[in-house]
Amino acid sequence: MSFRKKVFLSQLALFAVFILVLFPFISHTVDRIMQKALQEGTEKLIHLVESPDNKEKMIEVLKVQEFFASSVQNIADDVEIGFLVFCFLALLFFTALTWFLFNRFSQPIQEIIQAVRPYQSGEVESLPHITVRQKNEKDDFNRLASTLNSLSDRVREQIKNITEERNEKEAILESLGEGVIAVDAGGHVRYVNFTGSKMLGTPKRHLMGALFPTTSPLLEKCQHLLKAAQDTGVVVTDSIALEGLHRRYLDLIAAPKAKGSGAIIVLQDKSSHYKVLEMGKDFVANASHELRTPITIIKGFAETLQDMPELSPEMLADITEKIVRNCQRMDNLVKNLLTLADIENLPETRFKPFDLVPLVENCRHMLRAVYPDAEVSIEKSTQEIWAAGDVDLLELAIINLLDNAAKYSNPPAHIHIKLEALVDEAKITISDKGIGIPPADAEHIFERFYTVNKAHSRRLGGAGLGLSIVKTIIEKHDGTITVSSILGSGTTFTILLPVQRPTSLR
Ligand SMILES: Nc1ncnc2c1ncn2[C@@H]1O[C@H](COP(=O)(O)OP(=O)(O)O)[C@@H](O)[C@H]1O
Ligand SMILES: [Mg+2]
Repeated sequence: MSFRKKVFLSQLALFAVFILVLFPFISHTVDRIMQKALQEGTEKLIHLVESPDNKEKMIEVLKVQEFFASSVQNIADDVEIGFLVFCFLALLFFTALTWFLFNRFSQPIQEIIQAVRPYQSGEVESLPHITVRQKNEKDDFNRLASTLNSLSDRVREQIKNITEERNEKEAILESLGEGVIAVDAGGHVRYVNFTGSKMLGTPKRHLMGALFPTTSPLLEKCQHLLKAAQDTGVVVTDSIALEGLHRRYLDLIAAPKAKGSGAIIVLQDKSSHYKVLEMGKDFVANASHELRTPITIIKGFAETLQDMPELSPEMLADITEKIVRNCQRMDNLVKNLLTLADIENLPETRFKPFDLVPLVENCRHMLRAVYPDAEVSIEKSTQEIWAAGDVDLLELAIINLLDNAAKYSNPPAHIHIKLEALVDEAKITISDKGIGIPPADAEHIFERFYTVNKAHSRRLGGAGLGLSIVKTIIEKHDGTITVSSILGSGTTFTILLPVQRPTSLR
């Protein structure tokens, strides 16, 4: 029941009580006064006509008294009716007055209720601002409204701060390279970031609010760790290797949330880390293997020389030639390994500006010294093309590419070098019409010790380090190298290097 109705009904009740108590009392009092007046009047009249011969008058007096008595009764009735009518009118009047005053005084309360109701019923999201029309600052309702307003201002401010903080944290979590998933005490997913849903291979909308799934070995492991962290209250870690197109290694770290409210798990992709470790292991194994082969050969021939001192001069020449060739091979290998280490630690102080045109021409001369019958054409701009870096290393890179082009072509090799100046890059293209590279091998040829045909490369004195040296050199110069090849038709290597004029050197 509304406050207005309550006031109205209680007023009505009070009035009813008032009439019920007062009406019998008034009615009784009026009756008594009238009766007393009538009695006194009658007694006085009787006293006036009190003589035996006055019987007739006495009768008249009694008639008058009777007439008075009925008049008095009528008056008493009129008074009672009048009182009732008066009470009714008074009731109407006071009701109207109360209604008017109450409406006037409770207006601010109504306005407060009206302002708060939409928020309370959920129609609007924002906290209400109460505006009271009567601007009397001393009025209690006005003070109540302004107190409520300042309260909602503070709550609004706090909500704004909390929302900003939450959005900020969410943006940070979303941009993380690690997957983050939080579950509640019942094991339902409360939060998962973009990386997390990607790593788990489940869309975010399927995860949020659902029980943590166990539909894959990774999910199962995660769920197991979350439970362990929650049960033990300490951080638990594990890792998993996922087979697939590319082998992936994930580190999993689960931590309990405060007051047993669930747990959080962080998924870190450690594939590159493990890959580096694996590559390091492979590199050492490959390098050792490549060194052991010539050593074994040299050792074998040296033992032959030792055991058979009486060898014919032809045999002797053959054996010593083989020993020298394998020594040469070992020397090349060690040189290449040292070059790789050298490039990795290349200091930028060695970077100097140079013109690519003479550098390419110089490389052609060097190649022609080794492969005199190779045909090498150069297509170049008449202008200088400037780059910055270590000239010797870039020369080494281009010589390696030219050497491969000649090596993997049926003689005489046809090699074409093109030098172009793009907007802010220099483009060097080295094409040959050689044996080409099978498509499956093309993506691996820049890896260390990778050869398409080990025996063939070895015969030609290579160990598969050349292109990895080239790539490392180009990348050290902020450039890129790509390959395109057609098996049996030829291969093209394209290098892009940033152009750097001598004035804008680092
Ligand atoms: N121009 C080319 N034409 C055909 N195959 C090539 C060419 N350049 C490189 N390759 C292939 O790429 C592999 C890797 O080259 P590289 O690292 O220089 O090693 P290497 O020359 O010691 O064999 C080679 O074994 C060869 O099979
Ligand atoms: Mg090579």
